[in-house]
Amino acid sequence: MIAESVTSVVTIAVRDVMTVLAAIGVMLFHSPTLTIFVAILFPIIAVLVQLLGIAFRRYSERIQDSVGEVTQLTEEIIRGNTVVKAFNGYKYERNRLTGVDEKNRKQNLKLIRVRSLGVAITQVIFGFGLALVIYIASLQSIQGVLSPGQFISFFSAMMLMLQPLRRITNVNATLQRGVAGADSLFMILDQKDEKDIGTTKIKRVNGNVKFDSVDFSYDKDNLVIDDVSVSIGAGKVLAIVGHSGSGKSTLVNLLPRFYEINSGKISIDDISISDFTLESLRENISLVSQDVILFNESIKSNLTYGQLKPCNEKDLLKVAEAAFINDFAKDLPNGLDTIVGDRGMLLSGGQRQRIAIGRALLKNAPILVLDEATSALDTQSERHIQDALNLLMKDRTTLVIAHRLSTVEKADKIIVLDAGKIVEQGTHKDLINNDGQYANLYRMQFSEIQ
Ligand SMILES: Nc1ncnc2c1ncn2[C@@H]1O[C@H](COP(=O)(O)OP(=O)(O)OP(=O)(O)O)[C@@H](O)[C@H]1O
Ligand SMILES: [Mg+2]
Repeated sequence: MIAESVTSVVTIAVRDVMTVLAAIGVMLFHSPTLTIFVAILFPIIAVLVQLLGIAFRRYSERIQDSVGEVTQLTEEIIRGNTVVKAFNGYKYERNRLTGVDEKNRKQNLKLIRVRSLGVAITQVIFGFGLALVIYIASLQSIQGVLSPGQFISFFSAMMLMLQPLRRITNVNATLQRGVAGADSLFMILDQKDEKDIGTTKIKRVNGNVKFDSVDFSYDKDNLVIDDVSVSIGAGKVLAIVGHSGSGKSTLVNLLPRFYEINSGKISIDDISISDFTLESLRENISLVSQDVILFNESIKSNLTYGQLKPCNEKDLLKVAEAAFINDFAKDLPNGLDTIVGDRGMLLSGGQRQRIAIGRALLKNAPILVLDEATSALDTQSERHIQDALNLLMKDRTTLVIAHRLSTVEKADKIIVLDAGKIVEQGTHKDLINNDGQYANLYRMQFSEIQ
């Protein structure tokens, strides 16, 4: 739509503006008085057209929104089709879709109405204007100021202007529609870039990580991370536990600077993370997130995703072996070249996780951020993933949001988060002896898994 408005504006506008200019030249030559009169009339028409344009744009914007709604809803329903089927949501979804469809149809009708009305009103006004011009010209002709020949010439020039001007009104409408479309596009383009003013580049940090009185909130009101101070030595493991929604994922997402903290300081090897270039900071951090994100490509290219240098086949195979990916890949029709489907749909949850672990292994960064998946896995994959994780955590500073007992028990330090605050910290032993929130969580979450 935006492309359409730009091309039609350029081709039509250039040609039509030239025609109009030439016509004005002829008119001025024959009768300046009449030309002045036309020059007063046309701006009035222009203002009216402008006003119509504004109304038009308002409707246009609303229609853009409802077209977006239709696409979004359709996509959501298709993606969530299993839920729709399992929970018998056909009727509900059909109603929702009919609702937005109907809204979209009505808005479209309105748009067409406004457009036709716009063109009609402009033409009526123009018709009246034309009649007026002819009337005044005939008066001048009677007075002998304007000869019939001049009058015809003037009139032809003006008629020549009519068509281009009418087109320019239409161009205006197309343009308005394009602008409404561009608005939502620009909203995304106008998002601020990530702040990247740091200059420190370190190929490989040691991995001493420190949070110092860190506050963070997504919106300005409620703190999601509230005065968190904790440090973790290079190569050690920090486990973060806490209820759902206590801010665990948020806390670890602050380290690669996915979000900027409100106050306090996070440092790696005593250098504030905001002093690093984003590239260098993120090069030093491997991330295995709660929900694994895979692209609709082969297992291989998902493993090597984002690696700067083309990765050699030997490393790739080593990693595929270590992360127990070969375990399932060897049964797939194309092995490691098998396409994983949209969002990795063709793989099981455990298989997706193993690919994520493999990806992190291959990146081989000194700091590992691990948001363990909560989903229960069968004991076989669980053991495989645990082994792969142990290998991954070896010799790396690890911040792990732990749902597995074995991970928590082995951690060098555990912090318990509650509503963004650290309420307890220490080793597994310390905290069990404390008999506080951790001991409670431990009894609730972990004992039965054991
Ligand atoms: N992108 C976001 N924008 C706004 N609020 C968010 C965002 N992500 C999380 N939150 C809010 O921040 C709080 C902490 O969320 P977080 O994801 O850190 O919890 P969590 O401890 O990781 O929970 P879980 O164990 O369920 O993964 C929640 O109240 C959540 O609603
Ligand atoms: Mg989380």
